[in-house]
Amino acid sequence: MSIFFDSSGFVGHLSTQWLGQDFRYYEQIESTNRFVKELKADSVEHGTVVLADNQTQGRGQYQREWETVPGQNLTFSMVFKPQEIMGIHALTLACALCIVEMVDHLEFNAPVSIKWPNDVMFDGKKMAGLLTENVFIGNKLERLILGIGININQGKFSSNLRNPATSLRLESGKRYSRERLLNELLRRIEFKYHLWSRRQPILYRQINRKIKGYGHWVKLKVDGKLQEDRYKLLGINENGELLLLNKEGGIESFSYEQIRIVTN
Ligand code: BTN
Repeated sequence: MSIFFDSSGFVGHLSTQWLGQDFRYYEQIESTNRFVKELKADSVEHGTVVLADNQTQGRGQYQREWETVPGQNLTFSMVFKPQEIMGIHALTLACALCIVEMVDHLEFNAPVSIKWPNDVMFDGKKMAGLLTENVFIGNKLERLILGIGININQGKFSSNLRNPATSLRLESGKRYSRERLLNELLRRIEFKYHLWSRRQPILYRQINRKIKGYGHWVKLKVDGKLQEDRYKLLGINENGELLLLNKEGGIESFSYEQIRIVTN
């Protein structure tokens, strides 16, 4: 298997209507998110996908680094131009759900879940991360950039990562076609985007079922501080806010960034 992403083979087989139909491949780039963010408004469209085999300055949440071995994984950014900004966090979660479903479809015997707010976990180890950024022109959202990193064929991770990481290959011993997986993932995302843009309740139910801790009494870190009380995790609302039941029976909602869930 070549270490380079087969861009023309991928485009030739792409089975989406609009997502990734404008596909741009780079062997090496600083960060696909940053690259897409810096493109001029008229040179990027709803559905543009930029993928790099190697990111020299891949970024994660909180300006952390996103490191991967070149040519082994999927590191790409998608552009969306939604009508409104409301609920964009739910879109990030919808994309996380698509990754979970894609991995579930490979029939592993292990739990795959969304760790609030932006990680995909395989049996407690991080398999993928998402980074969503906005570009505004004045006070109007011009584009939304949703960057995804998924560990596919990487065989080893450094031991000083904050969270233990894993890849599909480490879990199954097999190598996977990144082109095939990306095609499948974009198909799923395109479909969920459709549900998201129509605020279809089924989408929120599907997301909730995959959020780690859903329906359980969990501990929280709010703005970095561990809370003493436990809360029951009720899932997300249409805006992508997390709803929690406190022990007095009141429902509290928290924004995407504000909160971390501690499930053990
Ligand atoms: C995280 O887990 O903190 C989010 C990681 C997001 C990584 C992806 S890889 C493609 C895109 N380009 C970046 O620089 N980051 C995102």
